[in-house]
Amino acid sequence: MKKRSKKLTVLVSACLLTVAGGSAAWAAEAKGGKATYDKLCVSCHGADGKGNPAMAKAMGEKGLNIVGKDTKAKKDADLLKVIVEGAGKMPASGKNLSKQEQTDVLSYTRSLAK
Ligand code: HEC
Repeated sequence: MKKRSKKLTVLVSACLLTVAGGSAAWAAEAKGGKATYDKLCVSCHGADGKGNPAMAKAMGEKGLNIVGKDTKAKKDADLLKVIVEGAGKMPASGKNLSKQEQTDVLSYTRSLAK
């Protein structure tokens, strides 16, 4: 009689989930980003991120609201690119910021959208 042993190899494929950091870390980053935001971004995007109406009028620009669902749906990498390189009428406001400051200011803008 022949015994056949069957080897069962279970391969657990790694789930590549890109999960944004815990909410505590998020909040800390957001706090650090406020100073940067107040200095470099508030004039156009407004304290609440909905856009400074006077600036929107002066620029003839409707894209100053960065707390809407459109922005929310965009990836961090894409928004960081806008912050660092500018887009349309937005200057490259964040180009002199460190990587940390860039992510902090993005976290802060994300926190405004809640
Ligand atoms: C001179 C005005 C001005 C300043 C200063 C400015 N922005 Fe903007 N920002 C804009 C405009 C205009 C757009 C829309 C650009 C476009 O046409 O895509 C924009 C777009 C964005 C977007 C992308 C929104 C989206 O849904 O694609 C983000 C994020 C953003 N700004 C963040 C910032 C941050 C953070 C700062 C400060 C570091 C900043 N902005 C400073 C004018 C400005």
